[in-house]
Formats: sequence, structure tokens, C-alpha cells
Amino acid sequence: MGQKRQLKLGAMIHGIGGHMGAWRHPDVQADASVSFAFYSQQAQKAEAGKFDLVFVADGLYINEKSLPHFLNRFEPISILSSLAGVTGKIGLVGTVSTSYSEPFTVARQFASLDLISGGRAGWNVVTSPLEGSAKNYGNKPHPDHALRYRIAEEYLTVAKGLWDSWEDDAFVRDKQTGVFFDPAKMHRLDHQGEFFAVQGPLNIARSSQGQPVIFQAGSSESGKELAAKSADAVFTGQETLEDARRFYREVKERAAAYGRSEDDILIFPGINPIIGKTPEEARRKHAELASLIGIEQALHYLGRFFDHHDFSQYPLDEPFPELGEVGNNSFRSTTDKIKQKAREENWTLRQTALYTATPEGEFIGTPEHIANLIEHWFLQKAADGFIVQANVPRALDDFVELVVPILQERGLFRTEYEADTLRGHLGISVPANRYALEQGKKPDAADVHS
Ligand SMILES: Cc1cc2nc3c(=O)[nH]c(=O)nc-3n(C[C@H](O)[C@H](O)[C@H](O)COP(=O)(O)O)c2cc1C
Repeated sequence: MGQKRQLKLGAMIHGIGGHMGAWRHPDVQADASVSFAFYSQQAQKAEAGKFDLVFVADGLYINEKSLPHFLNRFEPISILSSLAGVTGKIGLVGTVSTSYSEPFTVARQFASLDLISGGRAGWNVVTSPLEGSAKNYGNKPHPDHALRYRIAEEYLTVAKGLWDSWEDDAFVRDKQTGVFFDPAKMHRLDHQGEFFAVQGPLNIARSSQGQPVIFQAGSSESGKELAAKSADAVFTGQETLEDARRFYREVKERAAAYGRSEDDILIFPGINPIIGKTPEEARRKHAELASLIGIEQALHYLGRFFDHHDFSQYPLDEPFPELGEVGNNSFRSTTDKIKQKAREENWTLRQTALYTATPEGEFIGTPEHIANLIEHWFLQKAADGFIVQANVPRALDDFVELVVPILQERGLFRTEYEADTLRGHLGISVPANRYALEQGKKPDAADVHS
């Protein structure tokens, strides 16, 4: 990049939150997960804080044990399209599964979001960890972990191919001559692969950022490989500096093996900051959140990572059970971590469930403490940026009002947007249209980082 490395920030907007009991807190708007007013306010707050992007997660299967937010929430592309109208700069990243959708449809939806928002779209590629998803999509067998990633890889190839259907100057729209488009600049993909057959072209053109930004969430070996090959950014859950540094290094090394540079792929650990004027106040907020759930909800929360495994069958106050393969076909990287942590800490099932349901990570404390940690992780190359997941009320507001100014003062984070597109914010280049490139047409240098 040549310039000083700048921190990136994303704001997860997830209504009543990623905690089983947060909705019960007196300061939480209990219908926030389906409140456009809430989503608008949060997106505008993040934009006021000069965040790079907002991030909307998703899933395709619920039951009575699911997180309350999951039971009744917006579909990501719909909510992001409407947020495009109430924001002007911030990136809009949404989650869509490659296991239960068609690449033509999804490529078209993200291309539309990209044009609607003036080049601010991003797609968080996930592979659907829950077997129940299959029951909502024709009841074919749920693909196993490895197969899901093979499908995802081909899927991304197709989507990216479709996004180049039109060269940037293909639409002439000359009313005098009657020429609407230049047929030489319209391209069919003609993809025939193992999982997909897609002719193309896509019926929508590229935006000013060329193609939507690809995020990848999934941190197993296969997840890292997919990210290294095909993603611009990775959303990951790393709890310690050491783990995060290792993950960071591994993904960047794998990307280098595909001929990509360090700056071509950005690593975003998710953090759940709980901010207080004093460390005690922050701890109090954490304890208050923890008090909003009982062990039953904590077991449900834990169980979902293991594909809704029923943990009520095990004794609560004995060591965390030996689960063998359970979890391997679901949120594998997460379940591996939970198993490992329980073993290392010698935790009982009760302790593991309560910790997982209300994690007590490092990012709890004063604004200075949070800013120090962010700076440290960033400088230690454990992160290029963070996805801020706000679980306690006002967490995003506190972060924007109290932590962002410290990061700005230290020269780590922007005080004004330098660009209009998500690629521009992230400092990643606009991919040249492959057909234009083949014909030796150089991408316009001015387009890069526009
Ligand atoms: C940080 C993180 C966030 C994720 N977000 C989602 C999500 O919003 N929706 C979803 O269906 N799966 C999500 N996943 C699941 C992954 O897409 C994947 O299916 C699962 O984690 C198994 O892959 P892994 O073992 O490579 O992590 C997420 C995974 C991680 C690690």
C-alpha cells in the first residue's frame, strides 16, 4: 500500500444481540431485530464514527432453542439495501450461504446492492453449519464440512465470473445512434463445473468498486484455504493475542502461496467490547448481562455451535464431556476451540456453557484499555481491523464516542472517509474486468481505491 497501515473497523448490527438474555435488559429495545429505525440508527452511528463497514450475520435454521435474535430478524440483503438509502459512505456487508442458494441469484443480489449503494457492498461467505438448514431447502442431505467448502470454492468462482459479465464501458446508451450496448463487451461465463452450470451473462453491470468485497467467515483449515484463495477479508473469532497472531500469519502465508500480497487479504477478529468509565463499571455491565440468563439458556447457546447438540444429557458439575466427533460437521473451528478451552481450563460443563454464553474476553474495561488492546493487536499483526459486536446496550455508541477518538488521536484510525467505496475504505484494489484485461486493456489507475 505504501502508506501507513490504518486500522479498519466493522460494526455488527444484530438487533437485540448475540446473547440469549440481552433482550431482557431494561435499556434494550426488545424488537430491535426487526426494527428498521434501530438498524438505521446503528448504521448512522457507525458511519459517524467513520467505520469501514456494517456487518449483518445470518442463518437458515431455527428452533425453540435458538438465540432470540435469530428467531425473528431481517434477511441481510434486504436490510442492507434499505440501509444504503440512509447512509452515504459506510460499507454494507451481509452474510449469504453458499450451501443453500444459487450463484446466479446471489451474484445478482450483491451486484444490485453494490450499484444501489454506489460501490459499498460486501458479501460474507458462509457455508451453513446447521444440518437443520437442509430441512428448509428441499431436504436433500446436508453436505458435510469438506464438501460445503468445495461447493463454496466453485460458487465463488462462478459469482466472480458473473460479476465480469459486462466491461465497464459496455453500456453505450447512445440515443442518437440507437446503440444501447456494445455486444463485444458483454461476456458469457459458460461455466460447467462439478456443482454448478451457469451460462450467464449476469443481467447487471459492475459498480464503481468493480466487484463486491468478499468476506469469509470460517476458520478451520478448509476455511483458511478458501479465504486465502478467494477472499478479500476474513471474519474470525480469536480470543487471545497469541491465537489471533497465529491465525493472521497462517492466512497471510496461505494467500502468498496463491501469489497474493499481505495487503490483499485483511483479518478481522470479532470483539465484544464492554466499556465502562472505570474497570469496575465495565465488570458490572458484564455481570449484569450474565445475570440475564440461566444455565438452561447457556446450554442451548452452547449446543447450537454443536448443531443443536443436547447438552442437558450430561452432568453439569463434572468435567466437560468427551464429545468425539460431535461438532465437527457444524461450527468446527469454534467447537474445536470450545473443547480445547474446556480441557485447558479444566472446566465443568456448567462453567463452559456459562463462559460461552457470556464470554469474558479481554475487551472489557475503560475506553483507554479497549483502545490499548486494539492498538496492541493491530501493531502485533494479530488483526488488520475488528468487527465490533455490541452485546450490551449502547456498546456501539460507547465505542464510537469513547474509543474511536482515542484511536484517531493516536493516528491509527481515520478522522474522515478518504473514499466512497468499500474497497476504497479497506485499501484493496478494484479487480480489473477479466475480459478487458485479456484484451490488454489496462485498468484505469484512477479506479484503484476510488
Ligand atoms: C466468526 C464466524 C462467523 C460466522 N458467521 C456465520 C453466519 O453469520 N452465518 C452462518 O450461517 N455461519 C456463520 N459461520 C459459520 C461458518 O460459515 C462455517 O459454516 C462454520 O464455522 C464451519 O466452518 P469452520 O470450521 O471453517 O469455521 C461463522 C463462523 C465464524 C468462525
